Amino acid sequence: MPRRKHIKIAEVRTFENVFDYKQENVEQHIINYLGSDKPVTLELGCGQADYSINLAKLYPHRNFIGVDRKAARLWNASKNANSEKLKNVAFLIAYIEKLNEIFQRIKAEEIWITFPDPYPRRSSIKKRLVHPRFLEVYKNILLPEGKIFLKTDDDTLYAYTLKVIEEEKLILHKSTDDLYKSDLLSEEEKIQTKYEKQHLAEGKKIKLVCFSFNDIA
Ligand SMILES: C[S@@+](CC[C@H](N)C(=O)[O-])C[C@H]1O[C@@H](n2cnc3c(N)ncnc32)[C@H](O)[C@@H]1O
Repeated sequence: MPRRKHIKIAEVRTFENVFDYKQENVEQHIINYLGSDKPVTLELGCGQADYSINLAKLYPHRNFIGVDRKAARLWNASKNANSEKLKNVAFLIAYIEKLNEIFQRIKAEEIWITFPDPYPRRSSIKKRLVHPRFLEVYKNILLPEGKIFLKTDDDTLYAYTLKVIEEEKLILHKSTDDLYKSDLLSEEEKIQTKYEKQHLAEGKKIKLVCFSFNDIA
């Protein structure tokens, strides 16, 4: 591993807005940092957390938590949040699979999953972040009226997500296989992550799906 990455991995755990799932009472530490009275949005597999940071700027009255298993990526996220002086965003080094054990009190209004690894091979379908085993986790950490948003460039993952929504009898709120063909995008939809910018530069179409577990009036 390059020396710079080693330094980041060691240093990131000393940052006040970065938490590690191995810390005792990690949920309480996050609540102490953010305060517990504001609605929460989670960004899962956040990388450098472009969604959390841009949403935190748009909505100062809301809290945002970016989660990724790769500590070095959260080093960049933390630095970017600090340079914007954002106090309503925190980062958690964790496996998404562990979140229902970690979050007992934190319940999200929204989950954003942006450009997850598509895992195209049949043998790795279980690793897709919209596989039913992940949905079980999300059900526990999302408010009953909460929504899940997925952005991807990948046709197979997009089709698979729609299939899972149908099979699991979830509620589909929006799906598009070409987000930018419309000029009526919400401020949230317009945010572009590092990976999204790369895919757009390669001429790929961006897909978006929004769904929930329960029918929301
Ligand atoms: C392709 S990157 C996308 C990063 C970012 N969302 C973006 O759009 O720029 C996928 C990220 O998901 C993270 N990831 C994948 N599976 C994960 C898991 N099970 N738990 C936590 N993070 C995960 C990876 O570490 C990686 O940073």
